[in-house]
Amino acid sequence: MTKQTLPNDKPIMGEIVEKWGECFETYCFKIKLPVKVQSANPGQFIMLWVPGEDEYPVGIAGLKDSILEVGIAKMGPGTEAMHKKEVGDLVGIRGFYGKPFTPPEGVNHLLIGGGFGMTPLKLLTEKLMSNENKQNIHVFEGARSKDRLMYLKWLQDFHDQGKINFHVCTDDGSYGYQGFPTVDLEMFLQESETPSVIYAAGPEKMMKAIFDLGKKFANVIDMQMSLADRYMRCGFGACSSCAVDPTGWRICVDGPIFNTEKLEKISDFGVYKRLETGEKKRI
Ligand SMILES: Cc1cc2nc3c(=O)[nH]c(=O)nc-3n(C[C@H](O)[C@H](O)[C@H](O)COP(=O)(O)OP(=O)(O)OC[C@H]3O[C@@H](n4cnc5c(N)ncnc54)[C@H](O)[C@@H]3O)c2cc1C
Ligand code: FES
Repeated sequence: MTKQTLPNDKPIMGEIVEKWGECFETYCFKIKLPVKVQSANPGQFIMLWVPGEDEYPVGIAGLKDSILEVGIAKMGPGTEAMHKKEVGDLVGIRGFYGKPFTPPEGVNHLLIGGGFGMTPLKLLTEKLMSNENKQNIHVFEGARSKDRLMYLKWLQDFHDQGKINFHVCTDDGSYGYQGFPTVDLEMFLQESETPSVIYAAGPEKMMKAIFDLGKKFANVIDMQMSLADRYMRCGFGACSSCAVDPTGWRICVDGPIFNTEKLEKISDFGVYKRLETGEKKRI
């Protein structure tokens, strides 16, 4: 260990020290960083370079003793190449980038997500468990079927130990209740009198539905959402490939976490995203 910080202008090579199949077409990796890094904030991301293939943004699921945890869902060639990596292989990392979640104290913390959106929510759950009243931490996860639920055992174990409240559902009813996570979220908001903050990460359509629901409840004092379902090239504000309309905010530096006040101003939110060419595509 020579350096004390992770460089964010060029990749630094880290060694994969652990790999496991987390759920359907999703692998998790622990990567040993060659520098001492103290902590990462939930919601921040890295740029992961898979040598010979591609570099792309990935959320931080954990960081302890300079060992970084990531979860990679199969999408295309870049993520498939990472899935083929094994313990002992080297990958490039630069970061940490972006604005994190900022949980206030004394509220209900309602974390809601699906797919690879669960990676920043894992780190957020961990941080909240170390600080907050456990009764106030609620994690809502939804997936098409049981085999697609990310961190299922990890979350279910904390629920069984009374450390969090885990609300889980699947489209096909193979685990938890049948339906969408917004069903339980809405029921919770109807019954709760304590102010709540919603933290969401996942497909943008789902986040927009959560946002529209949250706006109906006066007890929702803020919503913080990760606009990570979008294309990024540089990750540090230089190329504008992640800019949103009409504000021109770049998701990599002004986000990826945006709060209610900012989300209200992004007309693209839940409607359009940009392709690699810069062209806008309806979500
Ligand atoms: C802030 C942020 C955090 C992310 N965190 C995770 C994570 O923790 N785990 C995970 O599995 N995925 C994560 N992603 C998504 C991941 O970066 C893309 O799925 C990945 O780039 C796909 O590459 P591919 O070559 O496998 O697929 P491709 O065939 O290249 O693309 C598949 C899909 O991913 C999109 N995509 C391609 N390249 C990028 C890129 N550079 N940036 C964003 N989207 C892209 C494409 O528009 C397409 O919709 C995150 C994205 C962002 C913006
Ligand atoms: S990815 Fe280049 S400015 Fe955001």
